[in-house]
Amino acid sequence: MGHLFSRRDFLLQAGGAASTLGLALLTGSCESCVQQIAHRPIRRNIAHLAANDPIVETYKAAVSAMKALPMSDPRNWTNQASIHNNHCPHGNWFFLPWHRAYLLYFERICRKLGGNKDFALPYWNWTQQPSIPSHFWGAGNPLYDSTRVATASDVVPSEFVGQPVMDSILSEPNFLLFASGESTTQRGFSTYGELEATPHNNIHNFVGGHMATFMSPLDPVFWCHHNMIDCCWVDWNLVRHNNNTNDSTWMNFAFSDFVDEAASPVSVKVVTTLLMPILSYQYEPCEPGEPAPAGLSPAQTQALQQFVKRGAPAQLKFTQRFAPPRALTGSVGKPVTGSIKVEPEALRAVFESGSKAQLVLRLGGIDVPSKPEFFVRAFVNKPDATIQTPLEDPHYAGSFGFFIDKTAMRMPESESSPIGVLVNLSPTLRRLGAGGAISKQQALDIQLVAVPYPRREAKGEQFTLRQLELGMMPLPGAGQP
Ligand code: C2O
Repeated sequence: MGHLFSRRDFLLQAGGAASTLGLALLTGSCESCVQQIAHRPIRRNIAHLAANDPIVETYKAAVSAMKALPMSDPRNWTNQASIHNNHCPHGNWFFLPWHRAYLLYFERICRKLGGNKDFALPYWNWTQQPSIPSHFWGAGNPLYDSTRVATASDVVPSEFVGQPVMDSILSEPNFLLFASGESTTQRGFSTYGELEATPHNNIHNFVGGHMATFMSPLDPVFWCHHNMIDCCWVDWNLVRHNNNTNDSTWMNFAFSDFVDEAASPVSVKVVTTLLMPILSYQYEPCEPGEPAPAGLSPAQTQALQQFVKRGAPAQLKFTQRFAPPRALTGSVGKPVTGSIKVEPEALRAVFESGSKAQLVLRLGGIDVPSKPEFFVRAFVNKPDATIQTPLEDPHYAGSFGFFIDKTAMRMPESESSPIGVLVNLSPTLRRLGAGGAISKQQALDIQLVAVPYPRREAKGEQFTLRQLELGMMPLPGAGQP
């Protein structure tokens, strides 16, 4: 590849090794690239690594080395966290690709500063191991962060990360509902999709301390949390073959916030991040039943690259809109109900046997405090819903959290941050409809119950809701020529 790319280009070009290797592979010109891709590092489940495993030792050494670097070096530990504080996209569709690229360059920095060329960042599988792993505890341990609120024995509630909720998220075929909503700017607030709203946001707030802020990468568990989020995206996209959106605003968007292991700035396009798990790393499976990483032939690798570069249109069509006459305010101990008119035909479409159409609720214009100490449970037609209502109740529709840091966003605390959340109501409606109770209804009532996180009181904290919209979400690609 020397004749195609100079060493400098190799380091500075968007995507670095990913795009270079990809091109060489497509032209069939590089036998060592084929080998490099086949043997790309495997990101392991940290639960499978002993406390003194070389991967864990390298991670510790790298974190210590980064903490020891001067502030003039962009690879310095605090500087790495500041990249996140100043640029991280949340509540929009740049969330997944931005954090993927952030992780990749961080992993390379660890490989170099930890002095282990075989290093791959391990992940924290909170579904299989719902407490912060032992590797991150102990005074003097570089992986420990003393600001955490959660303790080593606290268990993440299964409504955030349990197998049933993860199964339902990973089997959601629509990118806009799985990932997060459209935005033309990196930090624009749009809507949280299910992966971001439920496991992602709630883990941040469950851990607490630095993790509840946009300086969260100061806690080494941040990187292993995001690595699990990335593994979920890889599973959804490359193992289950769901398409990302092919919207060119998304595909061509470039992030210029990162530095590589040589401390040189890098710029990465979204489309390049899609190739990273095909060309630069792979995962020990994070989902039960997922096949172990196996060598793909060059032809299979090419086919996978073509698949991710193609994507598919992802649509969300709102059919019913309802703006409450006044903003609705809820707080811990004071659930709030929003009512939304529905057309019985739209409801019936969801119940038709074999229907794959999803009925989606968009809660919009939600204002929450910075670092909220509560999350929200949504129920359908459950007027007496409270914090005590069991999650087995058939009216329960989901639990979502908010990860917002107004200081990092340079917003006064009093300024509203109108974020939205998408909630797929179809499973709940099908369940309720099975009793025959719902299909003739003219309106749906949505109850929102604020619940404090474990060890938090959320005293006096409120949320305000300004919009309720109901949308039909066709299967991706449905109706396309
Ligand atoms: Cu940008 Cu989970 O953080």
